[in-house]
Amino acid sequence: MHNSWRDINTLYHIYPRSFQDTNDDGIGDLPGITSRLDYLSLVLGVDAMWLSPFFTSPMRDFGYDVANYRQVDSDYGTLDDFKKLLDEAHRRHMKVMIDFVPCHTSDQHAWFKESRSSRDNPKRDYYTWRDPGPDGGAPNNWLSQSGGTSWTFDETTGQYYLHSFLSAQPDLNWDNPSLRKEMTDTVRWWFEQGVDGMRVDAIWGISKDPNLADDPQNPEFHGEHPSEYGHFIHNKCKYGPNFTNYLKELSDVCHEFENRQMIFEFYPDDKIGDFYDQYHQVAAEVNPDVASTFFMELIRSPWHADMLGNGLDRYINYAAKDALPVFCLGNHDQPRIVSRIGESKARAMALLNLTLPGLSVIYYGDEIGMENGELTPSQVRDTFSPLNTSDTTRDLERTPMQWDHSARTSFSQVTPWLPIHKNHRTINAMTELSDSSSMLSLYRRLVRLRKQYPVLRIGSFTRLFVGSGYVLAFKRELDDQRVYVVVNFADQPQDIQLPEICSYLVSSQTAPRERESREAKPTLRPLEAALYIA
Ligand code: NOJ
Ligand code: CA
Repeated sequence: MHNSWRDINTLYHIYPRSFQDTNDDGIGDLPGITSRLDYLSLVLGVDAMWLSPFFTSPMRDFGYDVANYRQVDSDYGTLDDFKKLLDEAHRRHMKVMIDFVPCHTSDQHAWFKESRSSRDNPKRDYYTWRDPGPDGGAPNNWLSQSGGTSWTFDETTGQYYLHSFLSAQPDLNWDNPSLRKEMTDTVRWWFEQGVDGMRVDAIWGISKDPNLADDPQNPEFHGEHPSEYGHFIHNKCKYGPNFTNYLKELSDVCHEFENRQMIFEFYPDDKIGDFYDQYHQVAAEVNPDVASTFFMELIRSPWHADMLGNGLDRYINYAAKDALPVFCLGNHDQPRIVSRIGESKARAMALLNLTLPGLSVIYYGDEIGMENGELTPSQVRDTFSPLNTSDTTRDLERTPMQWDHSARTSFSQVTPWLPIHKNHRTINAMTELSDSSSMLSLYRRLVRLRKQYPVLRIGSFTRLFVGSGYVLAFKRELDDQRVYVVVNFADQPQDIQLPEICSYLVSSQTAPRERESREAKPTLRPLEAALYIA
């Protein structure tokens, strides 16, 4: 695979556990992904994929608790299965990005077993250990993102260890140079296997305050429970002095190879500072040629044309200016977009996502309009958060891919690890393939247009006012090609004025628009997004 990541249009994000089971254990696996490559490359037309973790893991956080960075978990197959997947993907000219979890391991990782065995073990300092605080409790006030304190007391050596997530996910200590070398060696090893890139998990905690000072109180927080995460401003347990230095060291490994890319998982925090300055810091101070961040605001922004338009402009033309812009509408940690905002808006956002510069990411199942799963309390598998109920669990966005209308939707021959959504009889890839107004047909059109018109991937991005404050509009331009994207945020029609006479290429809406002749003053239907070409 020698083409650059800047030539890639779309990245499909797979949650391996839920994509395709091939050995009848109800759990998706790597051979399952291989068996669906034709769907990805021929039916949908994407040119890269990102796989959530498939490494050896006790699955307390379904693979984000890694026990061995260089082995495939038996739930998902073998290293040979992965190599076969990689070869088959490359044969179809698709790139493969894997998930790298640099800031914590599983407590079952050999390093942690050694580290906890004695205070003078050589691996002791791979993690953060501290004596109890003056009151005999936790060494400081840091909180875990999975709830409660981020310190767990370990009887064997009488000290506490640090974990920004579950106690089964002890934090690695990046201030230790041998640990940093282990991690960069691991990245190098996967690149040597032919992997094209890495999505890098939860980067904010890679560097911490060296004195482990308390996080300051958040004066704006009025929650009731004292251990709620928002109680503090997290500028000591995260974003330490070596934040971008360590990310640079990690992504420097890309430079030893050709065409390797890292995408950091990074949610800027409005308590720390301006969102776009934070995106910019990571892009500018790391390695913009090989590393960038996801733009998370298509998920988090309020439904507001101007706010989102400003955000896009600042990210594209300032924060990620020299880096690869990366856009997504969801992931395995966020409720499904159709459940969040409804189908019409999700269609408009699909058009927006696929007409922005750089890389557009599609979370598996969003291309067919999958909705949040429906679970009973006993069906919940994710134990990540204390706030985990059958209505809030991340399992909702992780239910099995809906391939067809059969009882198990061809995901598996047995009862799957999470229940299949009962709407799979109508919302499934096979049924939608033969329906020109389906979500899948919209996605196929958009993916195809993105390939056909490189202006969408690499053209400039300029915001426009087209006569209505409810319409987010921008021009994309490359050489003598100009296209216009307009998104109507109102549930009323909007008359708009394009800067020149255009032809219409695609609309987000179900009913195909009447084939208009070339025009400059179209009317957008409620919540409609459309793409025009000059
Ligand atoms: C972010 C991942 O996306 C999420 O699924 C995981 O639980 C945490 N990081 C901890 O690794
Ligand atoms: Ca399986």
